[in-house]
Amino acid sequence: MTPIYQTSTYVQSAPGEHKGYEYSRTQNPTRDALQDNLAALENGKYGLCFSSGLGAIDALMKLLKPGDEVISTSDLYGGTYRLYMKIYSEYGIKFHFTGMDDIDKIKPFVNENTKMIWIETPTNPMLNIIDIKKAGELSKANDLILAVDNTFASPYLQNPLDLGADIVMHSITKYIGGHSDVVMGALVCNDDDLHEKLAFIQNSSGAVCGPMDSFLVLRGIKTLHLRMRQHCINGKAIAKFLNNHPKVDKVFWPGLEDHPNHTVAKAQMKDFGGMMSFTLKEDSMDDAFTLLSNTHLFALAESLGGVESLIGHPASMTHAAIPKEEREAVGLKDSLIRLSVGVEDIEDLLDDLSSALDKI
Ligand SMILES: Cc1ncc(COP(=O)(O)O)c(C=O)c1O
Repeated sequence: MTPIYQTSTYVQSAPGEHKGYEYSRTQNPTRDALQDNLAALENGKYGLCFSSGLGAIDALMKLLKPGDEVISTSDLYGGTYRLYMKIYSEYGIKFHFTGMDDIDKIKPFVNENTKMIWIETPTNPMLNIIDIKKAGELSKANDLILAVDNTFASPYLQNPLDLGADIVMHSITKYIGGHSDVVMGALVCNDDDLHEKLAFIQNSSGAVCGPMDSFLVLRGIKTLHLRMRQHCINGKAIAKFLNNHPKVDKVFWPGLEDHPNHTVAKAQMKDFGGMMSFTLKEDSMDDAFTLLSNTHLFALAESLGGVESLIGHPASMTHAAIPKEEREAVGLKDSLIRLSVGVEDIEDLLDDLSSALDKI
């Protein structure tokens, strides 16, 4: 097993003569093992780990200068939106938000100041799918950086670098960690120059993860493929159940054939995952809250991707940072409920949802 190098510093043989490690903000052997592992999982050359997913996105944003512009998908994790609008907008970086179900929607926003395209696919929480290959072509043609938040898919289901992305970002907190016991983020890339800049930022800004957490994530990764397979099997059964339930209005899951970008999902993902959202026939907060208060196996909590199933209400929880009008413009209604389907016995999960829906 990879040793946990629980150390902040390393003894040097003589001034200026060290054995490859000087100080753990810069390098730590346990973190190095994890970074290499993540790079391998994403078919990348370099991995860099951070103290959280947002810490990783924050490092990425530091590649930019005031006046630079970013085109981002309009339906994205609320914390990423908050980082963009409340922090980096204040430093003179301009963000454009657009739907990216059709890549042509990005084109009108490209100008001489554009530096980066930011994609989440599947998106959080609407499970929209963005065509990474087409976004990569647009990005290459305009000399931009294409960064993809691959958190919802995990490297088991999707490898954005293979499809033309320059950088992959993960909230390791989710599927990669897999056990709801670590907060961590990562960036993976292939380009030497990009890696050098990001490693410089990692060390200079200092949002690194600790060795014990690196060890836990390395252990979690050993079962990533097994967990993901079961998340996909359970996800499929639950999406079908909800899709036929009289109290459910619409189910958002890329594996459903009527999902607008089902064919893109089929082409770029190995399977469709265990994340999904749905709205209720009555679009009311009260009905949503009744459901949320009556599940027992689906625990009411933020986050996703752990072995235990979670249920959440984006409008009041993960996406509360996004103004109501902007939320509703992307379909994030008051009754929208998000599920992170775990790996428990499927009969138990179906019973739990069924009896909670009966309470409405
Ligand atoms: C899609 C997505 N990206 C990024 C993040 C941020 O990651 P972290 O919570 O590890 O900072 C999250 C967290 O929920 C997320 O769901």
